[in-house]
Amino acid sequence: MQIAKRMEAITGMLAMEMNMRLARMKQEGRDVINLGVGDPDFTPPEHLLKTLGEAVSHPDFHHYPSCYPNQPLKDAIAGWYKRRFGADLDPVNEVLPLLGSTDGLFLIHLCLLDTGYLALVPDPSYPSYEVGVKVVGAQIEKIPLLKENNFLPDLDSIPAEVAKKARMIWVNYPNNPTGATAPPEFYKKLISWAKTFEVIVVSDNAYSEVYFDQCPPVSFLKFAGAKEVGVEIHSLSKSYNCCGWRAGMLVGNKDIIAGMARIKAHSDRGMFYPMQLTAIKALNSSDDFMENRNRLFQERRDLAVKGLREIGLEVYPPQATFYLWASVPKGYTSQDFCLKALEQANVWMIPGSIYGKYGEGYLRIALTHPVERLAEAMGRLQKL
Ligand SMILES: Cc1ncc(COP(=O)(O)O)c(C=O)c1O
Repeated sequence: MQIAKRMEAITGMLAMEMNMRLARMKQEGRDVINLGVGDPDFTPPEHLLKTLGEAVSHPDFHHYPSCYPNQPLKDAIAGWYKRRFGADLDPVNEVLPLLGSTDGLFLIHLCLLDTGYLALVPDPSYPSYEVGVKVVGAQIEKIPLLKENNFLPDLDSIPAEVAKKARMIWVNYPNNPTGATAPPEFYKKLISWAKTFEVIVVSDNAYSEVYFDQCPPVSFLKFAGAKEVGVEIHSLSKSYNCCGWRAGMLVGNKDIIAGMARIKAHSDRGMFYPMQLTAIKALNSSDDFMENRNRLFQERRDLAVKGLREIGLEVYPPQATFYLWASVPKGYTSQDFCLKALEQANVWMIPGSIYGKYGEGYLRIALTHPVERLAEAMGRLQKL
């Protein structure tokens, strides 16, 4: 059957293909350590499991979400943004709940880009940005994230004619896959650059709550002028160890929020009401559990940084996210090295090249395993 031409832009997610391959290897009796998983191995906090359980058991909470008011959730999101980042948001017009950030980060291209428009997409980056741009028939200019720039885009190196033509730019800090974070100066410069060239900024801040060394990452929306030029996407997935819940938010520029609300009125019917109640609870209650969770991630980070360095890899220790970005040994492509590690050491790491051409020469590991298992992985890699 012939399906739409635009489907050619939708490439498979490597993670899903690999999960199937790894499941097959497991069936064959191989004990593979999967360092590819971008989903915390910790459970959601007890009080949220309780809230969700009680709400799900309520017989009246199973209608279309549009039957219930969603303003309390919007209020909770605006309150959290104020407390956590010092960002002021109008909870009526500048907040939109999402079914996880993936929901917003895919649909936003429909909202911002007509056919032939230009989008600036970092390279390496989370693959869904590129697919989203292509699906709506827009063009892409890749913006390299280089180690000499601490994996930040060098805005000054974007030619003025490209910047003038661009309709939107993606930024993602704390960054997947590099683990880099962005300092306040970066956002200030980005906002002024976006105003000069009239480029809409879409900031993906999904990892802001997984951080180390007592250095909480900031939000793009905290800075003066941000709401005039863009929006931010956020999510409970990584923050509250609940990737399966599909709860997120789009915040910022009111025209974009209004446009996205119109799109989502057709693409879904809102967030399951028990999930809304749980998200409200999460955003309004103490985040103390994160301190312990982040301490455990930090121990894992330190162990893996040491382990990878002992194998001779160049590692870029992150201050946030649960990812480590490292160079593959000389003489290997990213894919060759990762496949060798899978076949010979039963350790799966993600080749950096799947995140773009500037990801070639790197690999990404996720710290989503207990230290003992990570230590086992490092030991296996040392014998390669
Ligand atoms: C950079 C980035 N943004 C967004 C997401 C999607 O997260 P979710 O849809 O669970 O909020 C991910 C998931 O790994 C990610 O790495």
